[in-house]
Amino acid sequence: MRILGIESSCDDTSVAVVEDGSKVLSCVVASQGEIHAPFGGVVPELASRRHVEVIAAVCAQAIDEAGLLPKNIDAVAATQGPGLVGSLIAGFCFAKAWAFGRGLPFVGVNHLLGHVHSLFLGPNPPDFPFVALIASGGHTSLYLVSNATTIKSLGHTLDDAAGEAFDKVAKVMGLDYPGGPVIDRLATDGNPLAIDFPRSWLNRDGFDFSFSGVKTAVGRHIEISPDFSANIKDIAASFQAAVIDVLAEKTVNAAKFCKVKKVAVCGGVAANQGLRAALAQKAAQHGLSLHLPLISLCGDNAAMIAAAGFHLLAEGQTSSLDADVFSRA
Ligand code: KG4
Ligand code: ZN
Repeated sequence: MRILGIESSCDDTSVAVVEDGSKVLSCVVASQGEIHAPFGGVVPELASRRHVEVIAAVCAQAIDEAGLLPKNIDAVAATQGPGLVGSLIAGFCFAKAWAFGRGLPFVGVNHLLGHVHSLFLGPNPPDFPFVALIASGGHTSLYLVSNATTIKSLGHTLDDAAGEAFDKVAKVMGLDYPGGPVIDRLATDGNPLAIDFPRSWLNRDGFDFSFSGVKTAVGRHIEISPDFSANIKDIAASFQAAVIDVLAEKTVNAAKFCKVKKVAVCGGVAANQGLRAALAQKAAQHGLSLHLPLISLCGDNAAMIAAAGFHLLAEGQTSSLDADVFSRA
């Protein structure tokens, strides 16, 4: 079964064709990075307008790159939420119209279930059940994943998402947007022990997160260090370590709590080299296997939405044409 996937929850317009839930025939991602970069963050109004401008062309390109014609598509899946409402509406309505026009089944997909399915599009997919950390610009949550369509929240951030903290810290450091990849690169050559930024454990045994404290601490450090650019690599490495320590420890604790032997990380922040290394080490220490998506599928993409859509449709789930988007998980 060939599914056309459509993702537009934030600032990337993506369309993909995936066969039988795991074979990616094409995945086109039109990034809006340049539009939002001058603002140091996503401007919702600009994002939704851009989705409307490019979605038809991105869709045509994805079908073409898959070597197919529209008549070869069997069903349509689109991100329903959570995300920016204007952005979601642009992709969701396009998807509903595309499916209706061709008389195809249509299903709305939870964006977070989509991120989990990025794991099944790579070389080392986990068996069920497993614990998944989803860390991105909009979300930081831990889930128990018990099958292809069921994720149960164990905890989530109470303020900033991890990726949001990377982006905001990069902004105060005068670095480019999005800040995550830039800080990741700088941190490689920095000393993570140089500055002791605070770790927000909240309840140490719990699975909620908070990253606004460490973000503020980096801001203060920069305010009182006029020559901070000389130590920029150490600041990046120390900030990143403070975020990673909490993410890695809570992920491993969640696996122990749920008595599962496998952990996974998905979402844009899963591309972070420091996080990948820390989790590999911690998982090995605790006898857990670690599962990671391909770097190219960590960020928002439509292949993961098509893959999740395949399993929802296989269960007989479809969405009606008056289904609406939702902004929060
Ligand atoms: O999953 P994603 O593309 O979109 C959301 O659903 O938010 O994630 C984007 C986020 C941004 O905050 C970006 O800075 C962060 O992921 N990110 C990274 C890295 N690559 C992207 N954060 C840390 N290290 C990276 N290498
Ligand atoms: Zn996402």
